[in-house]
Amino acid sequence: MKGFELISTGGALPGRLVTNDDLSRMVDTSDEWITTRTGIRQRHFCAEGETITDLAVKAARQALERSGLSAADIGCCVCGTLSSQYASPSTACLVQRDLGLAEDIPVLDVNAACSGFIYGVGVARGLLATRENDPRRYALVIGCEHLSRLMDMTDRSTCVLFGDGAGAAIFELTGDAEFAIDLGARGDMAITTPAGGPIGMDGRAVFRFAVDALPRSLGAVLAATGHTIDDLDWVVCHQANSRIIDHCVKKLQADPDKFYKNMDRHGNTSAASIPVALNELAEQGRLTPGMRIACIGFGGGLTWGGMVLKVKGSKA
Ligand code: UT7
Repeated sequence: MKGFELISTGGALPGRLVTNDDLSRMVDTSDEWITTRTGIRQRHFCAEGETITDLAVKAARQALERSGLSAADIGCCVCGTLSSQYASPSTACLVQRDLGLAEDIPVLDVNAACSGFIYGVGVARGLLATRENDPRRYALVIGCEHLSRLMDMTDRSTCVLFGDGAGAAIFELTGDAEFAIDLGARGDMAITTPAGGPIGMDGRAVFRFAVDALPRSLGAVLAATGHTIDDLDWVVCHQANSRIIDHCVKKLQADPDKFYKNMDRHGNTSAASIPVALNELAEQGRLTPGMRIACIGFGGGLTWGGMVLKVKGSKA
């Protein structure tokens, strides 16, 4: 199996900060309900004139700069999103244009909703693996969403949950690095986003799905690598709801401190949530060379995706 190591990360959040109290002035809700049911306290929405393409480009540029690589080293660019600015060109193609990535590489968007970043990593790794004679062994994978554009701001059951943002990461295909990925789907209408919006969700059904899919996918990638949770430095889950992560921690009798949470500050940013979280950890100096991490996504589709991978370098 070909390994896939994390080299660098980047992130971008839009300018309009919306607190639970702000929302309680718009719909019949309260900071108390949102906080206790979800762990979310605030989220960022794109301001007037701000586009998800701008945020994706910003996050991707940051990841590229931090990698020490040049645009010409990138062998493919994949963007996970369900809310791109254009159906075509893809967000990935617009990132390619703005970063000056090569023309003879695959560049595409992937829609697997909240599992979009993990699916993007799987697609990118597969694409690089099929281009065996290409010396460009680096992939740029982005997760970005402009969900506020697709929300019904009069529907309190959904409008309090989601936020906008973008995260990006660069990976290297390496011969021997440890890596495992688990991708799956169960076609189902529990979360729907019609082309023009708004997002609709059977929250309880998705909650039940999530508390089953998350530990199952984590178990699958741990089994594939022969590790246990104790061997992981971080578990970075999709940030939909703090209670979903707590369920998983309890079920697995795991150390809660290993499960990173930031939904209090960003809400659920779908495909962006995992790369935004990875970028925060990196910026805080808490994602360091040699670390072994798991990332697990779940959401619309219904889809799920898990992976175990190493941060490039050796542990200090
Ligand atoms: O990213 C994709 C993956 N998505 C998810 O993982 C989401 C999974 N689901 C969830 O996180 C939870 O189901 C929610 C946070 C969406 C909802 O929490 P819940 O504990 O399942 O609440 P509920 O839907 O069962 O609603 C409980 C009550 C209802 O009132 P009644 O029928 O008990 O009188 C709702 O009408 O809460 C009411 N309610 C609200 N009240 C105040 C629903 N939304 C709100 C709100 N503010 N925003």
